[in-house]
Amino acid sequence: MLTTRFTELIGCALPLQQAGMGGVATADLARAVSEAGALGMIGAAMVPAAQLAQTLVDLPSPVGVNFLMPFVDTDAVEAAAGAATLVEFFYGDPDPALVERVHKNGNAKAAWQVGDADEARRAEQAACDLIVAQGVEAGGHVRGTIGLLPLLDGVLDAVGDQIPVVAAGGIGTAKAVKAVLAAGADAARIGTRFVAAEEADTHPEYAQALVDAGPDDTVLTTAFGVMWPDAPHRVLKSCVDAAGQFAEGDAVGELVMGEVRMPLPPFAVPCPGRTTTGTVKAMALYAGQSVGAVTKRQPAVEIVRELTADL
Ligand SMILES: Cc1cc2nc3c(=O)[nH]c(=O)nc-3n(C[C@H](O)[C@H](O)[C@H](O)COP(=O)(O)O)c2cc1C
Repeated sequence: MLTTRFTELIGCALPLQQAGMGGVATADLARAVSEAGALGMIGAAMVPAAQLAQTLVDLPSPVGVNFLMPFVDTDAVEAAAGAATLVEFFYGDPDPALVERVHKNGNAKAAWQVGDADEARRAEQAACDLIVAQGVEAGGHVRGTIGLLPLLDGVLDAVGDQIPVVAAGGIGTAKAVKAVLAAGADAARIGTRFVAAEEADTHPEYAQALVDAGPDDTVLTTAFGVMWPDAPHRVLKSCVDAAGQFAEGDAVGELVMGEVRMPLPPFAVPCPGRTTTGTVKAMALYAGQSVGAVTKRQPAVEIVRELTADL
């Protein structure tokens, strides 16, 4: 197998990172991906510190934890730093104090997902150990405005001599993984393909919508802005139209978290998980241009094997 600065830093066999995705990327998914030889990640947005610490106790190494800066909880960051291999941040200015908190509270490495070369430079200056360059093709919230290959060139020129760089956005096949490695990336990061993994907390209708969609069925929009306004994200076009059929004040469904049931207004940020009820097709169905590579719901180990078949 291929050794890169990423596999050496993380201590995994494959230059492949599963994206930490809020709601979707559960402990079961992270475990399955890491056991398959790649880096499994938990999406920790809005997960309380105590619950995160408990989850990490049971997980094998390596494992990463992803935080969204608009919702970051520093107690949870410290809990992650004490138990995870990688603590990663997205969607906010690189923050040296937060990176220091990671390094001081355990052995975890710190990463920042960025959308341009200048943000990469600031993340490196903030003492990050790893950078993820996210092209505009990516599913979910999107930080930058340019395609992955020109972005990767710029980020590699800016920080590639100092720290490993992971490429993200629109990568869904073994050919694409090989292409970004050939272009200088130390690993490929994959989101949308893992949304359809059996272990992900994904509503079956959402997974089926991904299977049915092609690469031109996504749109970059700010439509799903309730709870997180003015933050561009890539979703299936069909869900923007379907959500538009609801009136303000309607509920499209309910988010169910244990005993707690939360009505979901139209254009709310959470994507539908297994227990979400209501009109799933009108919820935020995040998807990257890699969605054409989603052909069925399958175990994460199979996805890892398919993606790394050519290495
Ligand atoms: C359903 C979904 C949720 C996401 N949630 C997060 C998140 O919580 N934190 C984060 O850093 N990135 C998140 N992302 C973006 C990914 O980190 C990554 O950049 C993207 O998935 C790569 O593009 P791809 O989906 O084409 O593979 C999410 C992506 C998807 C599809």
